[in-house]
Amino acid sequence: MNRLDFIKLEDLFFEYKKDKPIINNINLKINKDEVTTILGPNGSGKTTLGKLMIGILKPKSGQISISNRNISEFRLAQIGGKIGYLFQNPEKHFFTNTVEEELGFALKFKGFNDEYLEKKVDGLLKLFQIEDLREYSPLLLSQGEKQRLAIATILMNEPEYLILDEPTTGLDFDRKNILIQVLKELMEKGVGMTIISHDNTFVEELSHRVIKIHRGEITYDQRI
Ligand SMILES: Nc1ncnc2c1ncn2[C@@H]1O[C@H](COP(=O)(O)OP(=O)(O)OP(=O)(O)O)[C@@H](O)[C@H]1O
Ligand SMILES: [Mg+2]
Repeated sequence: MNRLDFIKLEDLFFEYKKDKPIINNINLKINKDEVTTILGPNGSGKTTLGKLMIGILKPKSGQISISNRNISEFRLAQIGGKIGYLFQNPEKHFFTNTVEEELGFALKFKGFNDEYLEKKVDGLLKLFQIEDLREYSPLLLSQGEKQRLAIATILMNEPEYLILDEPTTGLDFDRKNILIQVLKELMEKGVGMTIISHDNTFVEELSHRVIKIHRGEITYDQRI
């Protein structure tokens, strides 16, 4: 398989409302074993593009494929098993009553044993410094805590690829550095990622490729 073809977007168009194109003829091949950063001003279509890439939104025209298979051949849950997706609004992730349940939920559902689960949950709680919050309701956490919980929840699943929409929103300097370190370690283990961000730190610290979009079009695409 061509290493550039993990996620392939061809002649992609999308609009929420008629005659108001948000994604305008995007052609893009995303490589699995590198970090791609997508930059662009507010409203340029970054989140929309991310949602198209994992099939939450359907294009008006054009093709999307993952691992050389058309995205329509996958169920959303299958894509979710391969690609961990962080929503720009972390609250979209939460549907249980406590931080601990939130982390354990997906794997418990898949039948993993309790001992394995506990160890994994503990590890991620510590890594993201939210171990004192295990009994708290996810919805009552601070924004930075929600963000870290959402990322930890995604990592529970051990996805092979990550798409993170503004992962540093609400994170202070130290927590941002911890996140960057975690992402670097995942990268070294071979987990590729697309990071949608306003934060130049990612470009400097992690990215192999920078893509800029403006009004739904790619205006810049360089490896660095
Ligand atoms: N559900 C929706 N219905 C109608 N218009 C929408 C919807 N979601 C987004 N839009 C519009 O689509 C455009 C692109 O939005 P999108 O969220 O993709 O931008 P973005 O680049 O992620 O912005 P930001 O940097 O603020 O996160 C914006 O003009 C937005 O108002
Ligand atoms: Mg956005």
